[in-house]
Amino acid sequence: MERPIILLAVDGEAESYLDALRRAGFAPVLADPANPVAADLAVIDCDLDANLVTALVASLNGDTKVPTILLVGEGTELPKGIGSAVDEIALKPLLSEALVYRLQALLIRSGRHLPVESGEWATDEELSTAQVAGEGHVISVFAPKGGVGKTTVSVNVAVALRQQTRAEVLLFDADVGVGNVTSVLDVPYKLGLADLADSPPEEWSDAAFEQAVSIHAASGVKVLTWGTDPAQSERVSVDLLLAALRWARNHHSYVIVDNHPGYDDRTMAMLTVANEIFLVVTPEVGAIKNSSQFLELARELGLAGVVRVIVNRANHGISLEDMSNSLGLPIAASVVSNGPKAVIASNEGLPLVTKFPREKISDDLHQVARLISQPDGVPITESSAGLRRWWTRLGTRTSQA
Ligand SMILES: Nc1ncnc2c1ncn2[C@@H]1O[C@H](COP(=O)(O)OP(=O)(O)OP(=O)(O)O)[C@@H](O)[C@H]1O
Ligand SMILES: [Mg+2]
Repeated sequence: MERPIILLAVDGEAESYLDALRRAGFAPVLADPANPVAADLAVIDCDLDANLVTALVASLNGDTKVPTILLVGEGTELPKGIGSAVDEIALKPLLSEALVYRLQALLIRSGRHLPVESGEWATDEELSTAQVAGEGHVISVFAPKGGVGKTTVSVNVAVALRQQTRAEVLLFDADVGVGNVTSVLDVPYKLGLADLADSPPEEWSDAAFEQAVSIHAASGVKVLTWGTDPAQSERVSVDLLLAALRWARNHHSYVIVDNHPGYDDRTMAMLTVANEIFLVVTPEVGAIKNSSQFLELARELGLAGVVRVIVNRANHGISLEDMSNSLGLPIAASVVSNGPKAVIASNEGLPLVTKFPREKISDDLHQVARLISQPDGVPITESSAGLRRWWTRLGTRTSQA
């Protein structure tokens, strides 16, 4: 069975890319204009000779456009006509692991399967021909630090979004081994992804995922969790999470992913394939430092353009302006602190937005959901202009992801 073929046209040393791509189950081929290959995806360094870049891109623009990652340096001028809507821009230097993540994400967004662990394509007919109900918008709620409010934001934004749009919303608990949205949101838990872990990928069908979904009756939000037993968590592979996410985005308008606070492979996969990353930060030095490190990594991975900063417990500590300046990004929304109400709601298994709809904290959480339902809103702070320009350049992904 074939592996996805990656056409690689890079300046200089390609060995580390070739190794990393092979290990991830891809079949990389160095570009040779004299010997064109039918590639599934392509990676082209735009600092190569402009004629070569133009010729390579033209050869990939046949009947079916080959999704391409264009590598650019700080001062790279893209040759005329290069950089179409389906191409992605990645800033050099791009680490080889980052290239792998970017290509995996590109595969998913272009509706292809990832190579499975054996290095082969997952070939299940039913999966690859599944009816696509619409390209769901995936929002990964993340913080590199524990306890800052990721689950609170995820649960309440999912419910608020459902209230605002009446669209199909799936809340996906991907905090494997630790988190459990079902302990703060009262839903009749049935199965988790861990229960599918023993089945081969061919059996990760729509029906299998649908069986694992619970419905939060009061709001109509659907809930899919990794499971509940930490001892089972190792069995939930990156492939399984990605397959679940692919199903989720094909059958829901919005998928809200509650993530683990760390840089493990599963979390990185959930961030890489997201259309937007909501970075939850509290107004404390430690949380801001961790978030800055994450933003640095996001920039290396080419994810910077999709990050939105959400400040939780915003009425204490460092001001929004100072946070925005430290992070070099505007603050997209903020949520006040309300410990007593948060405790009551969580103890009763109810979302804050339904238990205390008139409280400021619920207004704020609705405002966070409006970032998704009304995406043209204005951020609540400005940020340093230099950095904004820098991040905006990477924003091309947002529009086509
Ligand atoms: N704005 C807020 N006001 C008051 N309490 C809050 C607020 N946001 C979250 N909390 C409380 O803080 C605690 C941690 O929140 P939460 O579980 O959402 O964080 P988390 O980032 O998901 O944590 P973990 O990293 O452990 O998954 C919970 O008890 C929650 O009720
Ligand atoms: Mg959590």
